[in-house]
Amino acid sequence: MNSYDNPLRDPQDRRLPRIAGPCVLVIFGVTGDLSRKKLMPAVYDLANRGLLPPGFGLVGFARRDWADQDFAQVVHDAVKEHARTPFREEVWEQLLEGIRFVSGTFDSDESFENLKATIDELDTTRGTGGNHAFYLSIPPSGFEPVMSQLAKHGLAERHPGTWNRVVIEKPFGHDLASAKELNAVVERLFKPHEVFRIDHYLGKETVQNLLALRFANQMFEPIWNNHYVSHVEITMAEDIGIGGRAGYFDGIGSARDVMQNHLLQLLALTAMEEPTSFEASQLRAEKKKVLAAARVPDDYDLHTARGQYAAGWQGGQPVIGYLEEEGVDPASKTETYAAIRVDIDNRRWAGVPFYLRTAKRMPRRVTEVALSFKRAPHLPFTITDTEELGTNALVMRIQPDEGVTLRFGAKVPGTQMEIREVSMDFAYGGSFTESSPEAYERLILDVLLGDPPLFPQQEEVELSWEILDPVLEHWASLPEQPEQYEAGTWGPQSGYDMVARDGFTWRRP
Ligand code: BG6
Repeated sequence: MNSYDNPLRDPQDRRLPRIAGPCVLVIFGVTGDLSRKKLMPAVYDLANRGLLPPGFGLVGFARRDWADQDFAQVVHDAVKEHARTPFREEVWEQLLEGIRFVSGTFDSDESFENLKATIDELDTTRGTGGNHAFYLSIPPSGFEPVMSQLAKHGLAERHPGTWNRVVIEKPFGHDLASAKELNAVVERLFKPHEVFRIDHYLGKETVQNLLALRFANQMFEPIWNNHYVSHVEITMAEDIGIGGRAGYFDGIGSARDVMQNHLLQLLALTAMEEPTSFEASQLRAEKKKVLAAARVPDDYDLHTARGQYAAGWQGGQPVIGYLEEEGVDPASKTETYAAIRVDIDNRRWAGVPFYLRTAKRMPRRVTEVALSFKRAPHLPFTITDTEELGTNALVMRIQPDEGVTLRFGAKVPGTQMEIREVSMDFAYGGSFTESSPEAYERLILDVLLGDPPLFPQQEEVELSWEILDPVLEHWASLPEQPEQYEAGTWGPQSGYDMVARDGFTWRRP
């Protein structure tokens, strides 16, 4: 259903939907998985929700020898298989009119001349107004040639009243130095406000809910600090292995893949001060401040852990270990489990460890941010009364099962004073009738609208590498393989030891 036709929607709500203006979206790397599973379906879902203008063009650029119709068929199949909203023939027909394909390679002038001609044609026939977004869904090695070609063929020229934007996907480099080099390549052609870096976690509703929870309510702020919080756990667990992604993942590893971006962004949103508004510059300023104050304590053997999944069981099925995966170097030292402790040197958080962990092949898929609180300073109960009292915790469930849980002690019914841990639960599904848009819907729409708050800035990217680089260098210097953990378990012993040393245990999400 188009959310704007939703009969349950408050009729008093006069907010206008945010609809993109006329434009062309050019996707490089259109034959990749991301494009098929996420980008094309998101474009269709936006069209289906009435958020794309009639004057919209979608251009795919790739090596394949396809005609427009072949590419349209690929988009059609991807939409049918992966779109969130139902397939509607009339929406598809309208989208189809603006679909084009350019077959080419990054080093071919002719390909980019064709691209220019295609975009010019769409500007005229579809009235796309000279507004163009270039989405680089390609490995970073392709950035330089694409940028040079765009420049050479006048594709990034600015004309009054029109815009050109570039969208780049992580990895934003593999360390601080390469992130800077990559950025220099992009910013040679595009101004900082024209560059949209995608961290798809920021497009997730539940991640934005972190801001709502913290800053729209009065009751959390007074306890959101080191007087009350003992430690924070940010977990991103996946039950999948690396599947067919060895070519990307091997040599990169979990820390570079998701900790440098998704997990450190979650940390920034959890720990930052209140921005004066949610305008990009204000939000980014607060994120940058907290990232600049964050560091991994420098005894890395004690405060970090890495692991690699070995064969095991997942969902009742035997699964192979990382080193047996197709395309993985059998001597690979790439980690599929990464955990680090981050300390934040400011008044609010001094003394509160933030533990970040992520892994492939864990028992289940779950991402959450959990604040654990200190024990009450005095418990006027006997030790037996409170045997089953855990620590109070506030858990923001990013996915799946989106929502928030508060855990606290309550009296067990009966004649004795016995206290046990219970949960108070908010579930998105139970409180809202509208289903959450996919992260890429929100982010692509924001690119087309030129709305930057949900896109990390280069300085945030660099600050995140500054936090991680010393850990990665340390890991690289170790002669041994990462510790093995059985697939379908919560990770290696060193991960448990890392928090146990500080007197904690990982929450079982
Ligand atoms: C991507 C990583 O950024 O996020 C993948 O490259 C990971 O390795 C994926 O599987 C997880 O995304 P989500 O939205 O399913 O949590």
